[in-house]
Amino acid sequence: MSTQSPISTNTVWHQATVTRARREAQNGHRGAIVWFTGLSGSGKSTLAHAVEESLHQKGCRTFVLDGDNVRHGLCGDLGFSVEGRIENIRRVGEMAKLFMEAGIIVLTAFISPYRDDRQRVRDMVKEGDFIEIYCDTPLEICESRDVKGMYKKARAGLIGEFTGISSPYEVPENPELDVDTGSAELDTCVDQVIADLMKRGIFLHDQCITETR
Ligand code: ADX
Repeated sequence: MSTQSPISTNTVWHQATVTRARREAQNGHRGAIVWFTGLSGSGKSTLAHAVEESLHQKGCRTFVLDGDNVRHGLCGDLGFSVEGRIENIRRVGEMAKLFMEAGIIVLTAFISPYRDDRQRVRDMVKEGDFIEIYCDTPLEICESRDVKGMYKKARAGLIGEFTGISSPYEVPENPELDVDTGSAELDTCVDQVIADLMKRGIFLHDQCITETR
């Protein structure tokens, strides 16, 4: 499988009249990609959904894209080889970008173990649109949680190429935010993310102010 995006020929981009800016004005907040990365069991999905709950209560338009869920549908044909993961993150990046252009704060929860793949998504959008959040839970804690029983199976050799055991995870070198999902309370982690999004101007008020057009 190629790491290059496929090139469709003889296609012409159609410019929308309802622009991202108009959608954002209507929503009362910016669209953004909030990209959670970390080992399996690090708390990405839990945190992404809890942040979404908080944003939703503030009136923001949100959506969570979750690794396990997306692999049941759009990426159901992909495995966990290097190539499979590259293609998974490429598709998710494209999808997240569409959500963002629809004015939505999209929260993604994928291991996304390779720096290059995360960088490629970052490079697809404008500066400030991609917010990388590292769910900083050490392998020992993820393994002791073993919510899905997969670490046990991976150690027993029943699951191959398992991240952290038999497949690498490249820790972000310069994420927008590093969250101590290994030992901090969930509420504390949520507050940290929300404060960061506010600081970056993703939403400016405690309650999103909608404008009807
Ligand atoms: S990624 O590496 O391509 O970003 P993704 O986030 O979509 O992975 O899927 C990870 C989830 O798939 C894990 O939480 C786990 O439930 C499941 N899984 C199954 N096999 C593997 C594997 N070999 N490595 C990691 N996760 C796996």
